[in-house]
Amino acid sequence: MKSKGESSASLPAPKSEGLAGVVVADTNMSFIDGEKGVLKYCGYSIEDLAANSTFEEIVYLLYRRELPNKEKAEEMIQTIGDARKLPSEVVKSIDSLAGKTSPMSLLRTVVSIIGHFEESVKLENLPDKALRLIGQIGTAVAMIDRKRNGLEYVKSDSKREHADDFIRMLTGNEPTEIQIKALNQYLVLLADHGFNASTFSARVTAGTLANLHAATTSAMGTLSGPLHGGANERAMNMILDVGTPEKAAEFVKECIEKKQRIMGFGHRVYKVDDPRAPILKSMSKKIWEEKGDMTLFETAEAIEREVKTAKPGLITNVDFYSATLLYGIGVPPDLFTPLFAMSRVAGWTAHTIEQYGNNRLIRPRARYVGATDRTYVPIDKR
Ligand SMILES: CC(C)(COP(=O)(O)OP(=O)(O)OC[C@H]1O[C@@H](n2cnc3c(N)ncnc32)[C@H](O)[C@@H]1OP(=O)(O)O)[C@@H](O)C(=O)NCCC(=O)NCCS
Repeated sequence: MKSKGESSASLPAPKSEGLAGVVVADTNMSFIDGEKGVLKYCGYSIEDLAANSTFEEIVYLLYRRELPNKEKAEEMIQTIGDARKLPSEVVKSIDSLAGKTSPMSLLRTVVSIIGHFEESVKLENLPDKALRLIGQIGTAVAMIDRKRNGLEYVKSDSKREHADDFIRMLTGNEPTEIQIKALNQYLVLLADHGFNASTFSARVTAGTLANLHAATTSAMGTLSGPLHGGANERAMNMILDVGTPEKAAEFVKECIEKKQRIMGFGHRVYKVDDPRAPILKSMSKKIWEEKGDMTLFETAEAIEREVKTAKPGLITNVDFYSATLLYGIGVPPDLFTPLFAMSRVAGWTAHTIEQYGNNRLIRPRARYVGATDRTYVPIDKR
């Protein structure tokens, strides 16, 4: 339907603040039922996918809307593995900026710089370009952390799965089976989620026919905010500050009295617990059991219990137990949002391709509520 050309002052008031509940486009990737707590990718339940699939299979699924067979899944591991290399100019920018700005700001810049080294391509070749970006972001996150800590870079190993190779490139150590499984589940669970704020940004940018790296850079900026991708870092810092399960009750009481937001709780779409949260909770528990120290995990559980008692309607979202899972693997809190980007880039790029495939410029209206008909006063008379 074409829009009408009314004046912005005669437009009706927004139906909801923040576009809550407004349907902006069709997608055939994520199905979300916020009332029942259901999430599916292309018809497959998130529980089945998290338990059985690799991140590479999910990338294939989001790009092609079907799960790969064994051979295709192996090809995908190789393709993303081969892509875990960065142009030398990009490495130079990490060399010069790591430690001087936040990892998330630098990663956003890195994505933008990578765009300079990609030729513009036809729509049918876009998935190759997008797959390269998925591999490159993983390497960039690991390199940013190692450089700022004065450590040598660890060369990527294209034969390994993304989760496995990332932990190795980040820590320099051979990851355990549980660590690989945990990170893989995290990457699977965060890969797509309908029109969340960052994906919407990517689609708005793609809707102007700007290129894939421009769309991904927009998405990265949007993800960085504390009400979206930045929540997991803050959730972890909160759990660390609380420190022990016994201090959880007092902490939550104080937050509620001061009307402070508790990070990792609440969601725009889910009215019952986010279906990703219990999966991450159970995997996170395994990580801490392997480490032989349950204090932080039990502190998180105690905070969750207190929040549910004090505010029964406030649901646990994906960020809360993402925090304990990532920290347990050895990821520092200020790298959490870059890791979110490392997963969500699968969804952003798939949505960008979906947008190009059936594009119309996304350009809503704002109702004008300011002064009208004022008399212009020359500057020396104001
Ligand atoms: C995610 C979030 C931005 C959704 O926001 P929203 O749909 O716009 O919901 P609102 O901000 O209107 O919140 C509705 C009510 O719940 C309360 N609320 C929402 N999240 C809350 C939280 N994390 N802690 C305490 N109260 C919260 C609000 O204060 C508000 O209460 P009020 O009606 O008494 O004023 C919000 O829940 C939030 O800020 N959560 C913390 C950040 C976070 O974890 N983000 C990651 C999301 S996956």
